[in-house]
Amino acid sequence: MRILVLGSGAREHAILDALLADPAGHDVTVSPGNGGIAEASATVVFGDITDDELVADWVQANPFDLVVIGPEAPLIAGVADGLRERGVPVFGPGRAAAQLEGSKAFAKRIMAEAGVPTGRAVRAGTLTEVEAALDELGAPYVVKADGLAAGKGVLVTDDRAAALDHATHYLQQGAVLLEEHLTGREVSLFFLSDGHTVLPLSPAQDFKRLGDGDAGPNTGGMGAYSPLPWLADSFGGEEAFVRRVLETVAEPVVRQLEDEDTPFIGLLYCGLIVEGDDIRVIEFNARFGDPETQVVLPRLVTPLAGLLFAAASGELAGMPWPEFSDQAAVGVVLASEGYPEAPVTGRPIYGFRDALTVPGIRIDHAATAWSDEHDTLLATGGRVLTVVAVADDFREARSRVYAAVDALDLEGGQYRTDIAAAVVAE
Ligand code: AMP
Ligand code: GLY
Repeated sequence: MRILVLGSGAREHAILDALLADPAGHDVTVSPGNGGIAEASATVVFGDITDDELVADWVQANPFDLVVIGPEAPLIAGVADGLRERGVPVFGPGRAAAQLEGSKAFAKRIMAEAGVPTGRAVRAGTLTEVEAALDELGAPYVVKADGLAAGKGVLVTDDRAAALDHATHYLQQGAVLLEEHLTGREVSLFFLSDGHTVLPLSPAQDFKRLGDGDAGPNTGGMGAYSPLPWLADSFGGEEAFVRRVLETVAEPVVRQLEDEDTPFIGLLYCGLIVEGDDIRVIEFNARFGDPETQVVLPRLVTPLAGLLFAAASGELAGMPWPEFSDQAAVGVVLASEGYPEAPVTGRPIYGFRDALTVPGIRIDHAATAWSDEHDTLLATGGRVLTVVAVADDFREARSRVYAAVDALDLEGGQYRTDIAAAVVAE
């Protein structure tokens, strides 16, 4: 198949690797890609990938069998709609269904209509409404920007003044949501949807805080691992857990959007919180998660291209659940100094060759670009790359991933040292 992947992150790099691993052989182009992606595949820059008309025109002139949209911004901008109108099979929801990610208030409404378990939330448009909601819900306070905020829109705090400050900031951009504080372990579970039929992938856990022990600010995600052995404690195993989320969350949401004539075709990311055998939704995203994708796709045995094409073409009905290996995957994000507030960019990264000699390692690039001057890649943004190790168990996967991370040299680089540490200790 000729496949176009839109995006430039480590997630798109992982999608690319999974597509290229298919023995059927695919011709994959990524736009715009990044320095690491360019070493693995064709990249092309034709302009702003959130411009729906521009993308549709370019794809019409350069035909593909399948277009996979990686990030949320083009989805929320309606790029999938523009392509579908021209008959192009596309993996990614249209503008309306992508509101599941684009507006937390929309997601709450869909969950209410579909009877999906989630925390209580109050939408507030003024500071007076915020204060009333904080009093009603009590501490710890959970304050969320209604729209997209690149992982930075959520504040969880006991400090009422800090909650009010955060709300005041995001009220300038629209409404905020005050939410009941949920406790438990977080799980990210992805589903492929063709608008009606839903198939699950394998669960992962993301580490959203910047520092070890969940200290520091929320980020886009600093690491992940998959599968989650501890799901066996309350659910008897992964399959029973996944089936329950399929039946109580993913299917009801996809059917609700279908009933509203805004079908969800693409990847439904369910951000869940699990306590005992209670499962509640924290958030939805309308695309593959980052960095979870980097640890989920290396375990996928079923060829990815066939799954994405079937979802894009309304053909998931009757297909078996995708298969995954039992291997352990651990991913660690390397971020620039100053991330998330003010990343320092333009610094060279050394040590790729040594890192890649560690067995079972892959490196998914995010913000990298080649520099002739330094004869290596430069870090060009906050989250620079994800190092991923696959091994027979988590102890080995952790030891491999950190051997490779330690081999990389980025001045001021930040990473967490405790990714999947609890799983090894349990
Ligand atoms: P979100 O962007 O909605 O995924 O939120 C980012 C992070 O904030 C989540 O991964 C949680 O760690 C935390 N969080 C969000 N909502 C809640 C909640 N209702 N209760 C507790 N923690 C939350
Ligand atoms: N890992 C969180 C996200 O992709 O939004």
